[in-house]
Amino acid sequence: MTSPAIQITGLHKSFGRQAVLRGIDLTVPKGGVFALLGPNGAGKTTLINILSTLVVPDSGTALVAGRNVMTERNAVKSAISLTGQFAAVDEVLTCEENLIMIGRLYGLSASQAKTRANELIIQFDLTAAAKKRVKTYSGGMRRRLDLAISLIVPRPIIFLDEPTTGLDTHSRRTLWDIILQLAGQGITIFLTTQYLEEADQLADTIAVIADGRIVASGTPEQLKARIGGEQLELLSDKDEVLCTVPTSGQIHDVQRALNELAASFPSDVRVNLRRPSMDDVFVALTSHKMEDTHV
Ligand SMILES: Nc1ncnc2c1ncn2[C@@H]1O[C@H](COP(=O)(O)OP(=O)(O)OP(=O)(O)O)[C@@H](O)[C@H]1O
Ligand SMILES: [Mg+2]
Repeated sequence: MTSPAIQITGLHKSFGRQAVLRGIDLTVPKGGVFALLGPNGAGKTTLINILSTLVVPDSGTALVAGRNVMTERNAVKSAISLTGQFAAVDEVLTCEENLIMIGRLYGLSASQAKTRANELIIQFDLTAAAKKRVKTYSGGMRRRLDLAISLIVPRPIIFLDEPTTGLDTHSRRTLWDIILQLAGQGITIFLTTQYLEEADQLADTIAVIADGRIVASGTPEQLKARIGGEQLELLSDKDEVLCTVPTSGQIHDVQRALNELAASFPSDVRVNLRRPSMDDVFVALTSHKMEDTHV
């Protein structure tokens, strides 16, 4: 077996008296997309910051590309790139100028930096805007530029903290395509997201963080299978979901659920059965209805 991209054992981090990470154990395989899910404030950004050497953990170990984030910081830094939740781009410069400037900071010559900037401008569909100041950009263009900047010097592991937050569906899908392309080249993508569908669509492996620990990990299909069965939904005549109840999918359990619900809803509501979604998994895992499940 090849060594994992990231190996975390017993990681703890507190800010003052607030214990944010309370014993994180996690293995991220090499290549493909790994998604970290969790409610606001769960510690996703803190974990990414530790893995990218920006924050020092209190205890535990984290190996990134086989290197220790505490004792081999430079080696870790040269194996990764990071696009933060609130990325820093110089708004007064154009996209091309930003890319060239960062290329120069990474040690490329002026002509190498210009060549690399132009490659990325084409790859990220920023040609039309390349010479415009970044402050005139839409959110989608900004996010594409953020990602392009992080790829100026190719790295085997890429951290993306909420890469698509606030983007419209079209921009989100453009970024998904780029992320999948990178993963297809053997790069390991470690992303966080608020969008469960995003994790479902993109990720080969998902982990859910809640209360400072990883409460579940596995493929999207494995996590949905943990919920099991069928979700029974009651729908209004406008197709609004009035309530959702998990069932085993077997006739007696569906019947039991229907009997329980019949008393509380008018008789003309409609019934729908569907497979569990990532939303169901997330709600179940982060509201303490499910035991810790590592599959
Ligand atoms: N430098 C810091 N000093 C003090 N508290 C911090 C610091 N960084 C993070 N925290 C706290 O740690 C907790 C976890 O924050 P973190 O940003 O890691 O969460 P998150 O999962 O990324 O949330 P979100 O989904 O909102 O981005 C929060 O309660 C936050 O206020
Ligand atoms: Mg965050």
